Amino acid sequence: MSSEHQGRVSVVTGGARGIGLACATELARAGSAIAVCDLRIDDATAAAAVLAAEFSVDARGYAGDVSAWSAVEAMIAQIARDFGRIDHLVNNAGVQFVSPLAEFPIEKYQLVRGIDLDGVFHATKAVWPHLLAQGRGRIVNIASVQGVIGSPFKAAYVAAKHGVIGLTKVSAIEGARVGITANAICPGAVMTDLIRGQAADLAASFGGGISEEEALDRAFLAAMPTRRFIEPVEVGALCAYLCGDLAKSITGAPISIDGGWAAQ
Ligand SMILES: NC(=O)c1ccc[n+]([C@@H]2O[C@H](COP(=O)([O-])OP(=O)(O)OC[C@H]3O[C@@H](n4cnc5c(N)ncnc54)[C@H](O)[C@@H]3O)[C@@H](O)[C@H]2O)c1
Repeated sequence: MSSEHQGRVSVVTGGARGIGLACATELARAGSAIAVCDLRIDDATAAAAVLAAEFSVDARGYAGDVSAWSAVEAMIAQIARDFGRIDHLVNNAGVQFVSPLAEFPIEKYQLVRGIDLDGVFHATKAVWPHLLAQGRGRIVNIASVQGVIGSPFKAAYVAAKHGVIGLTKVSAIEGARVGITANAICPGAVMTDLIRGQAADLAASFGGGISEEEALDRAFLAAMPTRRFIEPVEVGALCAYLCGDLAKSITGAPISIDGGWAAQ
């Protein structure tokens, strides 16, 4: 087991399940202490307890809605007090809403943007001074293949994820001379609650008359030349690598892990 991240502290937003938990797991496997941040304190604390038990690291849960600046500011300040330092930020919290553009509810557009894009800005801004204090830092933004290409019915998500890649570039440029790298991982379809939760709305958006499974196949598997869902651990391992010392020259990059989706 690698101990590359021993002595370091990683903050993972939306870390209680799915891709966020996989990123937290791979960082903990390499020895990092983990602040699991999520909407509900019990989910965050439960995930942290599993990591602490499995990898013998200091892992703690925190509650905070990333779309609210004041909540993020307070949460990051608390994490810095508890652990004494912050080395890595994984901006992973995200939601999806699927609807044809003309019927897209305004409040859903604002909700998706607030979490998926503004949330990345909030956490980056709050963590930045702590990374500066270390003279070294890593920011890994979990964007999406939808950050580099578009898909129907996902106006808010596609717009937000393209924005995340823009924010990643700015973070990389501003961080370059102070030891901070920032990259965007762009996964294709990873089988998590976020994918499962879209099945019914996708089936309806395709005009109905198809099963939820067919809708998932049409929206995701058909788009990936590999024709298989990506496993969360694949994204987690890439995240842990990007936080490592050998990745010090990788910055400002949208990095695809999408079964060839964006290559077509
Ligand atoms: N699953 C995929 O196929 C896929 C593909 C590309 C990108 N992504 C991105 O990966 C990230 C994680 O997705 P996932 O599939 O693991 O989803 P998920 O729904 O399984 O997990 C998301 C986590 O984020 C938390 N969360 C939601 N809103 C939050 C908020 N406002 N503040 C704090 N935490 C919040 C949830 O409680 C949950 O624990 C998202 O940014 C998503 O857009 C997922």
